[in-house]
Amino acid sequence: MIGLFDSGLGGLTVLARVRERMPSADLVFFADQAHVPYGDRTHGELLQLLRVNLERFEQYEVDAIVMACNTSCAIAERYGWPGSRVPILDLIESAAMAVERAGFARVGVVATAATVGAGSYGRTLRARIGGIDVVEVPAPALVPLVEAGALLGDEPRAAVAEVCAHLPLDLDALVYGCTHYPLLDGHFRSVLGNEIALVDPAIMQAERAELLLGARAHGAGATTYVTNGDEPLFHANVVRMSAVSAVTL
Ligand code: DGL
Repeated sequence: MIGLFDSGLGGLTVLARVRERMPSADLVFFADQAHVPYGDRTHGELLQLLRVNLERFEQYEVDAIVMACNTSCAIAERYGWPGSRVPILDLIESAAMAVERAGFARVGVVATAATVGAGSYGRTLRARIGGIDVVEVPAPALVPLVEAGALLGDEPRAAVAEVCAHLPLDLDALVYGCTHYPLLDGHFRSVLGNEIALVDPAIMQAERAELLLGARAHGAGATTYVTNGDEPLFHANVVRMSAVSAVTL
């Protein structure tokens, strides 16, 4: 059994990649929607939420926790990971591995205000890739749109355009430093055109999860969805996200 969590629906983009690679794995996904958006919270609050979320998986006897929230990883990078009985796969490390593998030298990172404020992406990328140029841009308007189910149309497109206006034009790649953003991938692509590569760290995260878990990833292929928010709305959105985006659950 693999545990994944996020503040909300964004983590489904990681879940989908893990499911693609490991069709028979048993997955439990927790959405901490009682506290979404994480990006506007203080580091102290986020560290406490991270501890509680990691402990939550003890009842499911998971073999590993595959992080589906960048903001939590950013806090852990800055203040240290809480102790855990099982391995934890860090999503920001996966992002850096994806950038390294692709050989990008000048990257933008769009992320929550808390992630950008922690500076974790810049530190992790620079530690792994000598001489890399990193520009981090916060995008606080995007998570509330995704949580409200506003994936299509003018409003999310304008919000994405506003974020992209703060990016330099000469980037090799833009990293989705928040798991909600790949749900707006079509808008990023149409605003940025085809010159800038878009990096979804979830792809490398799923590859690493498969390597880490090996045979332990074989189960009944069941997915358990849990939220501490509005349950009917959450379950409706899980179905909806998979219908209107690239996320296939
Ligand atoms: N999806 C999360 C992340 O990857 C958190 C977004 C939020 O709640 O602000 O950072």
